[in-house]
Amino acid sequence: MKGRFEGAVALVTGGAGGIGAGVALRLGREGAHVAVTDLSGSGAEVVAARVRQQGGQASAHALDVTRAEDTERVLDEVEHLAGTVSLAVTCAGIDSQFDFLDLSLTEWQKTIEVNLQGTFVVIQAVARRLKAKGGKGHIVAVASAAAKRPNPTQAHYGASKAGVVNLVRSAGVALARDGIVVNAVCPGVVDTDMTRAIHIERSRLSGLSEEESLARMIQSIPIGRIQTVDDVAHVVAFLLSHEADYMVGQAVNVCGGLAFD
Ligand SMILES: NC(=O)c1ccc[n+]([C@@H]2O[C@H](COP(=O)([O-])OP(=O)(O)OC[C@H]3O[C@@H](n4cnc5c(N)ncnc54)[C@H](O)[C@@H]3O)[C@@H](O)[C@H]2O)c1
Repeated sequence: MKGRFEGAVALVTGGAGGIGAGVALRLGREGAHVAVTDLSGSGAEVVAARVRQQGGQASAHALDVTRAEDTERVLDEVEHLAGTVSLAVTCAGIDSQFDFLDLSLTEWQKTIEVNLQGTFVVIQAVARRLKAKGGKGHIVAVASAAAKRPNPTQAHYGASKAGVVNLVRSAGVALARDGIVVNAVCPGVVDTDMTRAIHIERSRLSGLSEEESLARMIQSIPIGRIQTVDDVAHVVAFLLSHEADYMVGQAVNVCGGLAFD
């Protein structure tokens, strides 16, 4: 397949999920070899097969992003199969809904571990290898509009994503002179399993039905519709391209007008 990313090797974490799969398919269509990784190895394999069905190149790898040694193992596998990873997108993430006073330390730690620590582990591992080889590359972390807005039932999630926004600033500045471009995207309300699960949980807390809870959320989005995974993938692909080479450590809102700073 011909495209902007022909010959490049891309790592996608959380690749079995909604946004991860959308990004993997997009990068495959644009010519990259896509290493689809996820906690669920079988889920990653399903998405890798879809990339291959559309004429692209992909491999599947089970990866828990909270584990540095797991990340190194997968990067070894990918390097052996396809070459050094020069494009990475961190989509692995979890969310849950708890009233602030009921949020446990365990839930807080789990969310920070996957969303923030997991993003750090992957960015650092990819960048270390690239720098050691003198290679240039692009890394995009999927943060969230929740990083920039308060939410009484998502203190842990919002804090983890605000951490990602600041992590990307530091990594972006630290790696800029090595030609490793690090940025983030902040999606809003995307049509994925995570969003459906959020509104099942919110209905438990609010007494609204799941459908009413989601409809109320969509009503509050200035653009007036839920976001597709392609709305996110378009901007991720731009940030992975040379057109974004002068962007350092930015967290780009792609959220239909939910967040501005
Ligand atoms: N859905 C939204 O509205 C929305 C909005 C803003 C940001 N985001 C963020 O986008 C990213 C993708 O979200 P999504 O909607 O596609 O969710 P999703 O639940 O569909 O996919 C998330 C994927 O991450 C994987 N995962 C979870 N823990 C992992 C771990 N420890 N290691 C590796 N993989 C792990 C899951 O198996 C799953 O496949 C997440 O970081 C999420 O926080 C989502």
